[in-house]
Amino acid sequence: QKSGYKHFMLKEIFEQPQVIRDCLAGRVDERKQTLDIPELKTMDVPKRLSIVACGTSYHAGLWAKYIIESWARIPVQVEIASEFRYRSLVLDKDDLVLAISQSGETADTLAGMRIVREKGVPVLGLCNVVGSSVARESDAVIYTQAGPEISVASTKAMCSQLVLLTLLAYYWGEKKGTLRQEVRDTILPGLLALPKQLKEELPMIRKKAKKLAREYAWAKSFFYLGRGINFPLALEGALKLKEISYIHAEGYASGEMKHGPIALIEPDFPTFALALDDFLLPKVKSNLKEVQARGGRIIALTHKGANIQEEDTWVIPRVRGPLGSFFVLPALQLFAYEMAVYLGKDVDQPRNLAKSVTVE
Ligand code: M6R
Repeated sequence: QKSGYKHFMLKEIFEQPQVIRDCLAGRVDERKQTLDIPELKTMDVPKRLSIVACGTSYHAGLWAKYIIESWARIPVQVEIASEFRYRSLVLDKDDLVLAISQSGETADTLAGMRIVREKGVPVLGLCNVVGSSVARESDAVIYTQAGPEISVASTKAMCSQLVLLTLLAYYWGEKKGTLRQEVRDTILPGLLALPKQLKEELPMIRKKAKKLAREYAWAKSFFYLGRGINFPLALEGALKLKEISYIHAEGYASGEMKHGPIALIEPDFPTFALALDDFLLPKVKSNLKEVQARGGRIIALTHKGANIQEEDTWVIPRVRGPLGSFFVLPALQLFAYEMAVYLGKDVDQPRNLAKSVTVE
């Protein structure tokens, strides 16, 4: 079942090119370069969107906020389901709640959905397991087509969520007429090209992850830093590391470091920085200087030509904009994976965790 891979997690990370292909199939017409999401036929473009989810699915939601707001100009709130369900919610009938869940059985996400539906607010489910509770209880459901995910650490499911969320942002942007020409010109062709590019790159990404894992396995703590759309990915990188290697890791928005966390920096507290070549790179660079000045070691995930001078630079293909995340994500996943393997941890069944969290 592991098809020659040592762990399900590794197999699932390497399945991501196929997952992207499967998520695009039947939705993006390659010849006409058009997008259709038939599941949304009966739903209006929402005035406001609340995304409700837990764990990795929550990070996918945070990531989507950046592109939905930018492309479709819909205000988006992203909510941790266990908080959302106990708040005094202010929702209107023309709002939409998007529940994201790989398993479709997460207790808090389901509870949040039920509360919302009782108020007459529609719920769109984004989930991976056909016929799951989230799917059954949503007004409309979009399936993520990642195939069964066995490893407790969610990897390919997040990749599939990011593909569908990109399509959703594009779809709503197109319907509202707010899509910028540059987005129109690049996103669908870029998505279609991804599976091949990613398939070619994954072995190299793994090789570098393995090398770095050997050099950093001594660490007891890690910061993960990112700005903009890379901030949710920093949170995800930190979650993956703590979940399977049991190393303390904190994801932060780079700009928040100086508001307290930087006090922790010392040579034994390394930072994994997402320093990709986007408009926020100069800001990230200046945050990294502050870390360096305090003796902190840095792994900088970056693009060629970004002119990063950290001691450990990790160059990934230069895909700009949100599609670059499809290379950042497996780099973070593989780094956590190689750390856990090197430390002899039970990668697929980490302690204290279950694949689906059906209790609150
Ligand atoms: O099935 P769901 O997407 O609702 O699960 C949510 C979280 O429990 C899940 O993403 C968890 O954080 C993963 N183990 C992370 O790898």
